[in-house]
Amino acid sequence: VSTEGSQQDPSDLVRHFHAAGRTSGLVVLQGLHALRHALRFGAQVDVVVTADPQELERLARAYAPELISELQQRVVVVAQEVFKQLGPYVPHTGVVSIAHVVQADAVGLWAAENGAAPLILLEDPRNLGNLGAVIRVAAAAQAAGVLSTGAADPWDPVAVRGSAGLHFALPVGHLQELPPTDRPLLAFAPGGEVLRPERIPARAVLAFGSERAGLSSELLDRADECLSLPMRDGVSSLNLATSVAAVLYSLRLNGP
Ligand SMILES: C[S@@+](CC[C@H](N)C(=O)[O-])C[C@H]1O[C@@H](n2cnc3c(N)ncnc32)[C@H](O)[C@@H]1O
Repeated sequence: VSTEGSQQDPSDLVRHFHAAGRTSGLVVLQGLHALRHALRFGAQVDVVVTADPQELERLARAYAPELISELQQRVVVVAQEVFKQLGPYVPHTGVVSIAHVVQADAVGLWAAENGAAPLILLEDPRNLGNLGAVIRVAAAAQAAGVLSTGAADPWDPVAVRGSAGLHFALPVGHLQELPPTDRPLLAFAPGGEVLRPERIPARAVLAFGSERAGLSSELLDRADECLSLPMRDGVSSLNLATSVAAVLYSLRLNGP
């Protein structure tokens, strides 16, 4: 990995990273896995920083050989003390970068008529790691997108770390409220009717609730059906991301 970008003023870089964390249009990517998915899925990446170019090159050769030349063009090498100041989390792969957020048109996606893939709705998720894990599995299972409501920003850097950068592989956005939709709305909650994947209609919104409280009564009232994943007696619920994964893959493995 070339060190040609190393002329950049370290204090400018530190300022740039701190500002990116607070600017809605930019997101800090923590680690190589988030960066490689971001680049693979067409993210606009502004700056890539490492304190250990040899280790970055070794990891890139092992996990993302197709990206070596892109990394060579972009990487800025800084001292370890500067690297540690770039953010609260120091990834063990020793690389951080800044990408442009691709905010989905959430209202448009909510109403979209094209495509049969299900759309994931997370009502007021609280745990950013869960949010990221949902986005990761939704990307893998080719969902139409992931929308969330509530206070959490689905593009928070911690959520992007949780998705391993797969935010860039499908539409991800936030809804303030739920407009009317002609998509079938299916609520998932323990105690619902047992899921039969073959009966899930095309274009369905699959709605999952908050980690502690579950789905709101407003959403449950509005849903066309309330479905569940069967669980052994005594188990009260599954983890949010686990539930989304089980439902999406049951549909996918059951599909054409
Ligand atoms: C940790 S659970 C919330 C538990 C909450 N006390 C409740 O009863 O809904 C987070 C979300 O995962 C989904 N979930 C968890 N277990 C499920 C199951 N067995 N069937 C369907 N959805 C489930 C639901 O959407 C739920 O709102």
